[in-house]
Amino acid sequence: SMWKITLPICINAIMSIGAYFVAVRLIPKLRDMFIKANLYGIDMNKKSSDKIPEALGVVTGCVFLITMFLFIPIPFSDYIFNNVNFPHNEFVELLAALLSICCMLLLGFADDVLDLRWRHKLLLPTIASLPLLMVYYVNFNSTLIIVPKPLRSWLGFSVDLWLLYYIYMGMLAVFCTNAINILAGVNGLEVGQSLVIALSITIFNAIELSGDLWKAHQFSLYFMLPYISTSLALFKHNWYPSSVFVGDTFCYLSGMTFAVVGIIGHFSKTTLLFFIPQIINFLYSVPQLFHLVPCPRHRLPKYDRETEKLNMSVAVFKKSDLNSLN
Ligand code: UD1
Ligand code: MG
Repeated sequence: SMWKITLPICINAIMSIGAYFVAVRLIPKLRDMFIKANLYGIDMNKKSSDKIPEALGVVTGCVFLITMFLFIPIPFSDYIFNNVNFPHNEFVELLAALLSICCMLLLGFADDVLDLRWRHKLLLPTIASLPLLMVYYVNFNSTLIIVPKPLRSWLGFSVDLWLLYYIYMGMLAVFCTNAINILAGVNGLEVGQSLVIALSITIFNAIELSGDLWKAHQFSLYFMLPYISTSLALFKHNWYPSSVFVGDTFCYLSGMTFAVVGIIGHFSKTTLLFFIPQIINFLYSVPQLFHLVPCPRHRLPKYDRETEKLNMSVAVFKKSDLNSLN
């Protein structure tokens, strides 16, 4: 019935609102603690060189996870009270999803503290998505994809991608996390773009709730609502002029959350549609990322101290430095 679908979502929404107020108050209280632990950065687009606490994404990430942990029994309360037919497969999906996100939070925080190299940034999300892929294998193992209409005359109605599909899902986690991270460096941009993606997914899920696959979309909403509320709290403090930075912790956590709901909710291809601006930015960045041209440590708009405005940034290099191309 309608209640079965909406009641857990309503409870989740109320808990999310609570999580917002907890997070929004916690962030200013913990600022000094982060600076004391040497977790701070300098805002490169400002005149002042104040220390801005970094990696505050770990705070909202923890509030998000705690909200989800408290929420775990709610979707299963029917089965718990009536003591019948407990859906172990659904339970395992929920736990594995939380395990992957939790793992990513830890690895992201490690990156902020230890400043890992680029190759590790690619490795970490792959590792964190393994539990998820295992659950996907055990519960669904469907690697069949429906071919888009224009291509059907060549490929037929559906194609079984088998191992390729698992590789795709593993790479989705790598892409989502890093795509958010490299489109960063302007106040509020990391959280802002994540909120746009999360809201898009939420609207998509809400529409699909009336369809046959409502369970998968209900599952996704359980994650999206507390994610949005805790990220909004972070957004408030990260918005111009930033009083905190979100850190790679937040970027990893966000990308992983989107990959998780996409994979377990069976809309991992649709997920990429919500990443179109990030895909364009990635393609545009490819020459620098793969070192075809020199890549500066920070790829930011150039700050002009005189006018206090941002200009286009220019990377200057000699033609002779492009040895790998000639
Ligand atoms: C990614 C980008 C890098 C960009 C950086 C900024 C790639 C390959 N890497 O690196 O080019 O400079 O993000 O986030 O594209 N900062 C600001 N204002 C902000 C946010 C961050 O000045 O609004 C600065 C601060 O000095 C902060 C630092 O960026 O300390 C954080 O950078 P970090 O997240 O460690 O950089 P990466 O994610 O490795
Ligand atoms: Mg970053």
